[in-house]
Amino acid sequence: MKDGIPGDLLETGVWRGGASIFMKAALVVYGGRDRTIWVADSFEGLPKPDVEKYPKDKGDMHWTFDNLRVSMEEVRGNFERYGLLDDNIKFIKGWFSDTMPSAPIEKLALLRADGDMYGSTMDVLEPMYPKLSSGGFLIIDDYALEGCRAAVHDYRNRHGIAENIVDIDGIGAFWRKS
Ligand SMILES: C[S@@+](CC[C@H](N)C(=O)[O-])C[C@H]1O[C@@H](n2cnc3c(N)ncnc32)[C@H](O)[C@@H]1O
Repeated sequence: MKDGIPGDLLETGVWRGGASIFMKAALVVYGGRDRTIWVADSFEGLPKPDVEKYPKDKGDMHWTFDNLRVSMEEVRGNFERYGLLDDNIKFIKGWFSDTMPSAPIEKLALLRADGDMYGSTMDVLEPMYPKLSSGGFLIIDDYALEGCRAAVHDYRNRHGIAENIVDIDGIGAFWRKS
């Protein structure tokens, strides 16, 4: 906030909404209430692996995890419980492969990718990383997961991205776009 990096905030893969709700709380505290937070999820769990497109997702079983299916109404209700639901919280429902390429997002200050799989990471990085402002932050929540990490490195290699990857907690990682 204090660096004035332009753009919205996006979380891809929100589950019950905890991290997005925390983002909103931080914006309220630091005076960024007018920034949009985009909350993107299928709201029905993870997709079955598309191994034709993403062979590295072969055998991934995340789609079977029932506890990752949380409806949009429930997430909306969780924002409300904290008094943090307003018109600047915008929901994008659907598979990232369908929603991200046409999402009405112009510029991002923060991109938080938390889709667990190779495909769910790549389907976000390809359309959204170019929209991240210089000085903006990319957080990869699942960097410790093999598929996700492979997508991050494939994307970085393809686009010649050399910014240092910073470990957060042994699982997540981030870098700041130069
Ligand atoms: C591990 S949870 C996210 C946890 C959440 N960010 C948090 O910090 O509490 C992963 C979420 O990503 C969503 N997801 C994963 N892949 C997706 C895809 N390809 N399209 C849409 N949603 C997806 C799932 O529905 C699930 O809600």
